[in-house]
Amino acid sequence: MAEIKFVNITKYFGTTKVIENLNLEVRDGEFLVLVGPSGCGKSTTLRLLAGLEELTAGNILIDEKVVNDIAPKDRDISMVFQNYALYPHMTVYENIAFGLKLRKYRKSEISKMVAETAEVLELQELLNRKPKQLSGGQSQRVALGRAIVRKPKVFLFDEPLSNLDAKLRTQMRTEIKKLHSRLKTTMIYVTHDQVEAMTMGSRIVVMKDGIIHQIGTPMEVYNNPSDLFVAGFIGSPKMNITEMALTDSGLLTDKDSGIELEIPTEVTDYLTSHDIQKVIIGIRPEDIYLESRKSCSNPIEGIIDLVEPLGNETLLYVNVHNITFTCKKMGFIDAKQGDMISIYFDLKRLKYFDVENQKALW
Ligand SMILES: Nc1ncnc2c1ncn2[C@@H]1O[C@H](COP(=O)(O)OP(=O)(O)O)[C@@H](O)[C@H]1O
Ligand SMILES: [Mg+2]
Repeated sequence: MAEIKFVNITKYFGTTKVIENLNLEVRDGEFLVLVGPSGCGKSTTLRLLAGLEELTAGNILIDEKVVNDIAPKDRDISMVFQNYALYPHMTVYENIAFGLKLRKYRKSEISKMVAETAEVLELQELLNRKPKQLSGGQSQRVALGRAIVRKPKVFLFDEPLSNLDAKLRTQMRTEIKKLHSRLKTTMIYVTHDQVEAMTMGSRIVVMKDGIIHQIGTPMEVYNNPSDLFVAGFIGSPKMNITEMALTDSGLLTDKDSGIELEIPTEVTDYLTSHDIQKVIIGIRPEDIYLESRKSCSNPIEGIIDLVEPLGNETLLYVNVHNITFTCKKMGFIDAKQGDMISIYFDLKRLKYFDVENQKALW
């Protein structure tokens, strides 16, 4: 059982504010992912929880108990880093057992605990090897083994897969998820990679500059980003965004490109009643179609700037009077650079953001 609460936490390094008044609750047994660009304060947040950094203000609670003044070794937390240095002169067994020895576990207990861990991570055959005789993925499993062997209350992962190649990273993602479903321990996983966040988290926390922008399930965050930052950060290729103006007749238009969108009347009503004349619209690449369907805009004429066939899908970059829209289609599209094309926005999938504060309008 481990429920974690960050309550109004703030962290300065010298005079630099790195985390500002952050509030976050991590549920017991949850796999929570903290995601955000490099330097946004993810590692600092984990290190504060582990007790490796001191809070400037606020409280951290584990199971309702304030742990601010509890020493790192007494917090019952285990952390796996990107640079998981294994001890080169020790075998896999000794590497996994090391922390237990330090904590003065009995030899028989240690051998039982290492055996259990080796089984969970399928390391049985490798226990007598030295780190240099292991592949990248095997080393990473040993690093995981070192973290889980003590059965701590909480696991923290700080970009543990960043140094691995793409294939191994995908494989290890699955292993870590499986590990979570087996152990059901509370886990916080930090990454700057939005794909990792989307595929791994039961909930994800999107951070920027030490501030939480949104907390939600991957689909909530994807479908209803709370602001332009989240809209742009989650999803690849990025959501298309452009500023448009509301006309007297209730259309959204962009004079330069000639785009006119007949937005739903409830949106027009909202904008009018809030005296909003300009909005930033957002539309995901997969919500722009090449043929008209229900709930679509009028055709928008453009010229193809670039075609990117990815095998299972094709990306089209369509230039509409100097605004480029990225469109994503399943399968192969028979089109080439310079072709004229009509695109259609799915008006039901349009997002609207405030021009000033960049927040989603509702
Ligand atoms: N010990 C430190 N002293 C001074 N500044 C630090 C220290 N650790 C981190 N920072 C700064 O705090 C900010 C957040 O860092 P970090 O938490 O490592 O970000 P992330 O893990 O999201 O990349 C960065 O600007 C970083 O330079
Ligand atoms: Mg970091």
